Amino acid sequence: MTSLTLTCIGRQQNTHDVVSWQLTPLSGSLPPVLAGQCITLHTEIDGQPECRAYTLSSSPQDECWQVTIKDVGRVSRHLHQTLQVGDEIRVDGPFGDFNMTALPCERPLLLSAGSGITPMWAMLQDELAKRPDADIRFIHSARSPADVIFADDLAALAETHPGVRHALILEDAPADHPWIGRLTPDMLRELAPDLLSRHVYLCGPTPYMAAISTMLAELGLPPEQLQQESFGLPPVAPATTTSDHFWLTLKKSGKKVKILPGQTLLAALEVAGETMMAACRAGVCGSCRCSTKGDIERQSVMTLSAQDLESGVALACSCTAKGDITLDY
Ligand SMILES: Cc1cc2nc3c(=O)[nH]c(=O)nc-3n(C[C@H](O)[C@H](O)[C@H](O)COP(=O)(O)OP(=O)(O)OC[C@H]3O[C@@H](n4cnc5c(N)ncnc54)[C@H](O)[C@@H]3O)c2cc1C
Ligand code: FES
Repeated sequence: MTSLTLTCIGRQQNTHDVVSWQLTPLSGSLPPVLAGQCITLHTEIDGQPECRAYTLSSSPQDECWQVTIKDVGRVSRHLHQTLQVGDEIRVDGPFGDFNMTALPCERPLLLSAGSGITPMWAMLQDELAKRPDADIRFIHSARSPADVIFADDLAALAETHPGVRHALILEDAPADHPWIGRLTPDMLRELAPDLLSRHVYLCGPTPYMAAISTMLAELGLPPEQLQQESFGLPPVAPATTTSDHFWLTLKKSGKKVKILPGQTLLAALEVAGETMMAACRAGVCGSCRCSTKGDIERQSVMTLSAQDLESGVALACSCTAKGDITLDY
């Protein structure tokens, strides 16, 4: 994966808790990217290296990369407080399978919530640059009008592209707003009556993703017509009993760490006080890559080559143990 140092050349406040930054290399060019892909941003907090995955909200046609970040926790807040125009930042990527190239379609339906709008915005711009008359439905959910990221840009884009129909589902909105509350099957039927003949792209926080993917299945959308990416952390699988465990031996220190059935290697390490770089915790970015010896089960193989799989390389955030394991990272 490409590692780059980029310079911040722009910064805009999108909403009360969301900021976009434009990033570019001082010399040379950016690697190719597909709309919907992510990068890892590296930073330091109190001397400790930290990294997180962020989707590029810019389209591949843009000359610089843009990230759009909601202030929700430790690293995002740090970036909001410190990353300014003129600063340099280390970046890895781009990576990720969430894009329209993987599941191309004539008539996409984009469903997002909160900061999950970022890949949709990139895909929407990219698709319209290639097919200005494309028939695209875009349904975005947010708390209130003040929380809608890219609201003005989205309205302007829909003005100039009659094939784009968008709707904002707002939990808290003036009484004359047409879509108040959370997205329901009735709203979805009304906004996308031809749902079953569309390919659906879904992105947002974990509870939204869970609710909407269940709704889509109940409405009869075939699973192969759905592509999704979650921004929230995946739930940690519960252990059956605490006495039921395997041992994870850390190759460098010889330390033995308990790992429970269903627990990821990353979760077991963190419980034992070990630190490991993990930008996305969703098996997407490759930052938690490690070498294993022993019986493992991989829940994601993204960024791994056939040779990696053969030699026991795994993603610690998306890998569980089926026996005792030796781990090197
Ligand atoms: C593939 C991928 C792409 C992503 N792209 C973006 C993006 O374009 N913009 C963006 O703002 N974030 C994005 N994220 C989320 C981002 O990586 C971080 O998880 C997020 O910034 C929180 O990190 P933190 O250190 O600030 O919070 P932490 O201190 O690590 O966590 C604080 C809490 O925030 C929750 N949380 C995590 N992400 C979100 C979110 N997006 N909205 C609401 N709550 C959240 C966590 O579950 C946790 O409870 C993406 C995540 C993934 C896996
Ligand atoms: S943290 Fe991104 S793949 Fe594991």
